[in-house]
Amino acid sequence: MKAHDTVRHLMRQGKGILAADESTKTITERFEARGISPTEAMRRAYRELLMTTPGMEEYLSGVILYDETIRDTIAHGTPYPEYLFSRGVFPGIKVDLGMAHDPQFGGLVTLGLDGLRKRLVEYKALGARFTKWRAVAAVGTQPGAPHVRENASRLAVYAEEALAEGMVPIVEPEVLMEGAHSAEDAERTITETVATVIDALHARDIDLSHVILKTAMAVSGSNASVRATASEVADRTVRALTSAVPEEMGGIVFLSGGQSPEEATANLNAIARLEPLPWDITFSFARALQEPVLDRWAGNPENVDEAQSIFLERLSLARAADAAGYSASQEEGSLAP
Ligand code: 13P
Repeated sequence: MKAHDTVRHLMRQGKGILAADESTKTITERFEARGISPTEAMRRAYRELLMTTPGMEEYLSGVILYDETIRDTIAHGTPYPEYLFSRGVFPGIKVDLGMAHDPQFGGLVTLGLDGLRKRLVEYKALGARFTKWRAVAAVGTQPGAPHVRENASRLAVYAEEALAEGMVPIVEPEVLMEGAHSAEDAERTITETVATVIDALHARDIDLSHVILKTAMAVSGSNASVRATASEVADRTVRALTSAVPEEMGGIVFLSGGQSPEEATANLNAIARLEPLPWDITFSFARALQEPVLDRWAGNPENVDEAQSIFLERLSLARAADAAGYSASQEEGSLAP
C-alpha cells in the first residue's frame, strides 16, 4: 500500500487514532496510581480490553501500539496487527526509544536512530502500516536551541526511513503542558518548534503529503493560575499551525498532553469550529481517551464491560468534537443544560 493511501485511511473523516503505545515505564506509573498491579498479564488484559471494544472501529482509523503489543496476540491467538486490520483499523507502532538528557545538545533528545532501519523492517513484517516518533520541548525553549534542532533533525531522519520502508511517519514534536505558562507562550513555542521540524523535513526533501504531524494544542500550562478558554486555545493553536505547517501536510492530529478528557474534547471542538483549515485534522489522544477507562476497569475483570462502554463514549465524544458537534452537556452526569 502506498503512503498516500495510508494517510488517506488514517485521516478519514469521522475517525481518529488511539495512542496505546505507552512504554512499560509509563503504563506502570498509570497502573500504580490506581493500585493496579503492573504485570505483563495486566498490561495484556488492559490492552485487550481497549482493542476488543465492540464498535471501536466506528471511531478509529488507527491504533499506535507499543513493541510489547505488536508482537502479542489477543486471547484467541490472533496477532494484534491482524486483528486490528480485520476490523478496518490500521496498526501503527511507536519506534523511538524514549529520551535522555544529552549535554552535547543541552536538553532532552529522543533516542532510537541506531538500528532503526532493522526495527522498521521487522515492524513492517509484523503488519505495521504507520509509525510514530516523539520528541519534546518545554514552553519557553529558545528558538533554534540545539536540542530542538537535533530533535527536528532526528524526526526527519526517522520520517525518511519509515517512508523508505513504506510506512507513514507520524512526527510528534510535543510542546509540553507542564509549567505555569500562558496559552500565548505555548502558541509561540509550538510555532517555533513545529517550524523547525518542517525545515528539517524540507532539508531531506520529504514529501509532506506522506507525513502526519502530531502536535499539542496551545493550552495554558498545567500550573497556570488563569486557564485560556477553548476558543482562545483554538485561535492560538490554529494560528501557530497555519504559520508553521504547509498546506500539503498529510494531516494534523492532536495529542491530549495531560488535559482532562473534557478539556481536550472541548478544545478539539473549538479547533474544528474554525474549519475549513488547510489540512485534515483529528484526535490522537492517549490519556484523554484512556484515563476514565482505566479508572473504571481498575484491574478488575468484572469491570471490563463498563470500562469498554466508557471507552466508546469517549470515542464518540471525540468524534463529535472533530466535527465541531460536541458540547459539555453531552458529558454523562453533566450539570450543563
Ligand atoms: P496523550 O494524549 O496522553 O498526550 O498521549 C498522546 C501521545 O501519543 C503521546 O506520545
